[in-house]
Amino acid sequence: MGPPGAGKGTQAKKLVEKFGVTHLSSGDILRAERSSGSALGKKLAEYMDAGKLVPDEIVVRVMAKALTGGAGGGLLLDGFPRTLPQAEALDAQLARAGRPLDAVVVMTAEPDLIVRRITGRRSCPRCGRVYHVEFMPPRTADVCDACGVALVRREDDAETVVRNRLAAYNRQTAPVVEYYHGRAGLKVIEVDGGKDADEVLARLVEAFEAMGAGGR
Ligand code: AP5
Ligand code: MG
Repeated sequence: MGPPGAGKGTQAKKLVEKFGVTHLSSGDILRAERSSGSALGKKLAEYMDAGKLVPDEIVVRVMAKALTGGAGGGLLLDGFPRTLPQAEALDAQLARAGRPLDAVVVMTAEPDLIVRRITGRRSCPRCGRVYHVEFMPPRTADVCDACGVALVRREDDAETVVRNRLAAYNRQTAPVVEYYHGRAGLKVIEVDGGKDADEVLARLVEAFEAMGAGGR
């Protein structure tokens, strides 16, 4: 969990490599639906481009399907749940599957840094690798290091939209952090996402290893 630009996607990609877990990003899943051009995708675009949360009933349905479609093994959820009804629906689904949450990672970042990070973000349309024009530039400007294709900017990465996304986080998602705090058997790991990416990763790896996770 964390506001836009806290580094959720960046760290998730590194944790997948380290621990071999499956990364399920609600934003990526919704963007894929959107780019399919379906009627649902068109509806999603209205919310996403305005920086508003997609309604719970849609997100819960889409994520329930993604959660059951996995290949087994560990799951790393990124951007879901984002409201209390989503958290309750996730709890119910995981309880039915006998796989309760082990940990919640909460990443923080200051608003000015969030805006700098988001407005400079570029990503690869093929492999999803995330770059930043200033903080994490590709070897060749605007080209993915791994795929060699032109990088793109996300449709919702304009400054005004980012500020709406941050407001939605503070209003609708911050209460979910409180919902998880103090729950028996659930570890809440808080990390300053404003720090250097390697430092953030080291902190996360240390926390997961302390819980018994095995790295590759
Ligand atoms: P989503 O795709 O989840 O976007 P978000 O939460 O706004 O977060 P971002 O993906 O923008 O940020 P991030 O934390 O992943 O940062 P990143 O690692 O890329 O959701 C998009 C939309 O979909 C929502 O607005 C909503 O409409 C909808 N949606 C999704 N889930 C939903 C749900 N559950 N319910 C309802 N609606 C939902 O990093 C950002 C930049 O910073 C990059 O350029 C990166 O290179 C750079 N960077 C990262 N870490 C560092 C570092 N440590 N140092 C320097 N630079 C760094
Ligand atoms: Mg992301």
